[in-house]
Amino acid sequence: MISSIKWRFVFVYFLLVFIAMAIVGIFIVGRLEDQQIKAVTRDMEQEIQSISSSISDNDWLENASDIQNTIDEWPLGSNQTLYVIYDEDIPTIIASNAEQKENVVGYNALSNKYIDPIIVQTAFNGDKGESIIEELNENIINKHLSYPVYSSMGKLNGVLYMTYNLENVYNTVNESKTILTSATFLALGITIFLGFLIASSITEPIRDVTKKAEEMAMGDFDQFVDVKSDDEIGQLASMFNHLTLKLKETIQDMDLERSKLDTIFNYMAEGVVAVDTNGYIIHVNPIAMDILGLDEGLSYGEEKIDLLKLNIHKIDYTKKENLEGSVTTKINSKVYKIKYAPFNNEKNIVGGLIVVFQDITQEHKLDNMRKEFVANVSHELKTPITTIKSYTETLLDNELDKVISQKFLSVIDSESDRMARLVRDLLQLSNIDYNKTNWKRTEVSICDMIRDIISKLDLLIKEKDHKLELDLRENLPSVIVDKDGMEQVILNIISNAIKYTENNGKINISVYSIDKELVIKVKDNGIGIPKDDQHRIFERFYRVEKGRSREMGGTGLGLSIAKEIIDAHDGRIEINSVLEEGTEVTLTLPLV
Ligand SMILES: Nc1ncnc2c1ncn2[C@@H]1O[C@H](COP(=O)(O)OP(=O)(O)OP(=O)(O)O)[C@@H](O)[C@H]1O
Ligand SMILES: [Mg+2]
Repeated sequence: MISSIKWRFVFVYFLLVFIAMAIVGIFIVGRLEDQQIKAVTRDMEQEIQSISSSISDNDWLENASDIQNTIDEWPLGSNQTLYVIYDEDIPTIIASNAEQKENVVGYNALSNKYIDPIIVQTAFNGDKGESIIEELNENIINKHLSYPVYSSMGKLNGVLYMTYNLENVYNTVNESKTILTSATFLALGITIFLGFLIASSITEPIRDVTKKAEEMAMGDFDQFVDVKSDDEIGQLASMFNHLTLKLKETIQDMDLERSKLDTIFNYMAEGVVAVDTNGYIIHVNPIAMDILGLDEGLSYGEEKIDLLKLNIHKIDYTKKENLEGSVTTKINSKVYKIKYAPFNNEKNIVGGLIVVFQDITQEHKLDNMRKEFVANVSHELKTPITTIKSYTETLLDNELDKVISQKFLSVIDSESDRMARLVRDLLQLSNIDYNKTNWKRTEVSICDMIRDIISKLDLLIKEKDHKLELDLRENLPSVIVDKDGMEQVILNIISNAIKYTENNGKINISVYSIDKELVIKVKDNGIGIPKDDQHRIFERFYRVEKGRSREMGGTGLGLSIAKEIIDAHDGRIEINSVLEEGTEVTLTLPLV
């Protein structure tokens, strides 16, 4: 308890007042006792002088009874005892007012137990003697005074010896002591009370600040103390409030910053995971959890990830230069660029790795497509060039007859056509890709266009003995399209149906309108397209059976061009096909 400032303050205060009161008390009581005794002594002296001048100037022994009478008549107080001592050979009491004077008068003064022989002697030597004596076993304190009395002749007549009971004096002194002690207790009581109040007024605000600081330490920053004064404690309180405010602001800023970072961390497109030096996950964002197939309820510091599985090798935490890099890794059919770098912990040493996953599946796919495209173009061009080259060389090197030469030249011609077609198709795709195609939209009757196309393909249909069914509704609205482009699309679809249907096949072409859309369906009962290939059918150069398609003069660009053109017209192209049963291609164009 004494360790608290409050009680220490009260204790010191108490001690100070106690010491002050004790010193003052001792001083006052001492002085009072002194004064009282001096007053008594003065009274005694006056009394003795009056008595001495009232008794006979002649030899006292001869006038002893007169002296006794004078003393008897003298108004002495009950606490005063007078002895008249005459010096015969020994100092003898010749008169007295003592209670049992018959036991005293006529006896040796020095053997009287109430008389101090030393001061008797002093008086007989001519000096005034005085002493204070506590009478043994009687609880009485007496003031003793001895006084030499001379005759007018200058002869020592004897000694007047007076004792004075100091009971009253000591009663007064004791009373004063009691008063002073009570006053001291009262003062100490007030001291404790006031000391407590003052100490409280000092310690309460400090205790308040301490309590609020404790609550702040536990994370509650809404702590303010009342500033009740302008003194040092008031300044401490307002400084505390200022600090709290600053701290709150700083923490709010930090929270804001952290929440921003959290949002970025949680919603960024890249997956991020932080691992400690033992490979345990210490932080992970939702994307990375998804990539790594981690459980939502994962607790940090318990789940490990295998860096080797991510293609991150050579991790050596003693060599900082080995801790940074990037790798490409395939995880669950997706391709990721993984970048990693070390981070420092609170001890400013490497605490682990931050691993960032960037999904590059699309780029990877595009890159592969680009490579495949270049390879396809080269391959498609190489075949006719090789044919043309070898046929031309044969023609140049040998003298061939006209029929064979004609045959060779017609092969060269058809291969050149094929190359020209390929280059034209590629150019068309490139123009579409770079938005260079100028679509000339005009009002076109699709039914007329289909009839035109069929008449162009008539020879081919007849060659393969296909049965053609046309279901063209009457009064169909015309569409606003680029005539050449649309003709190219429909021509490719119908010629595909002819090409990829065995002889004696059945081809059905129907056109109708529904819900402000024009629908063109081309259905065949041909070889069909395997399910696995159907989703790739619109890719450039994609052909189901490359050899067979090429034989038929196809390049595999027809449907990809068709899709681009239909997309540019805000239409749709869909393929439904069952292997060896047939294919149905549906074109949908918006009607205005
Ligand atoms: N009606 C169909 N029946 C079966 N397979 C088809 C049909 N239409 C297209 N295909 C398949 O789709 C592939 C791509 O067709 P696309 O029209 O793009 O190329 P192509 O006809 O081979 O060549 P191009 O049209 O450039 O002369 C074809 O090679 C073929 O394998
Ligand atoms: Mg085609």
